[in-house]
Amino acid sequence: MTEGGTVQGKFISFEGIDGAGKSTHIGFVAGWLAARGKAVVSTREPGGTPLGEKLRELLLHEKMHLETEALLMFASRREHIAQVIAPNLALGNWVLSDRFTDASFAYQSGGRGLARDKMETLEHWVHPGLQPDLTLLFDVPLEVARERLDATRTLDKFEREQADFFEKCRGEYLRRAAEFPQRIVVIDSTRSIEAIQAHLSEVLEKLL
Ligand code: ADP
Ligand code: TYD
Repeated sequence: MTEGGTVQGKFISFEGIDGAGKSTHIGFVAGWLAARGKAVVSTREPGGTPLGEKLRELLLHEKMHLETEALLMFASRREHIAQVIAPNLALGNWVLSDRFTDASFAYQSGGRGLARDKMETLEHWVHPGLQPDLTLLFDVPLEVARERLDATRTLDKFEREQADFFEKCRGEYLRRAAEFPQRIVVIDSTRSIEAIQAHLSEVLEKLL
């Protein structure tokens, strides 16, 4: 409840290495919630605002220093929180974000090796007091994710990284899940889409 007496919406983030199945399931979750009368806003990071989408273009295609990359991810996030996430939650809407700060831990700290305390500093600076109510971590072994990534599509800067990079990203995601078991639910994404959706329904039911 906010001071005005309106009910705050809920914030769900979707995480996992590239090809794990996030995009496949965001639409399902949005539909599931809408069918239960929730107003749903689907968005993504990096991006989600006009400025954030410009930053996304740079982040996905330009070479840059690791710390520049981390700072731009959080610049995009700061704008996203101000323009989209916070106002929608205040209106009582449910916000579904394709990635949030766990992705920065996984990719910039896990994958690229940025010291975790620097990441924690950015997290505390940019969103003190705000965390997703629920994070769905789609987890698959690397080989499965690679097979699923459409061979015909042009891969971006991150998707062209080597296997070792994604192993480290996955490891950091799972470490975060163990650190925050109340918030992060690991979804075994090697199962069929139907089996995963049944699991998602159970998890969502508890959040209503
Ligand atoms: P992400 O958004 O995590 O990068 P996607 O949702 O785009 O991943 O999924 C990558 C590919 O794998 C898509 O072609 C999708 O149809 C397929 N896929 C997703 N989940 C499954 C699954 N459980 N079983 C088989 N194929 C899947
Ligand atoms: P994503 O939207 O999952 O890519 P796609 O549309 O191709 O499925 O994410 C874009 C990339 O950005 C992805 O490889 C992960 C990376 N990323 C980071 O490295 N750090 C971050 O903080 C975020 C949000 C994303």
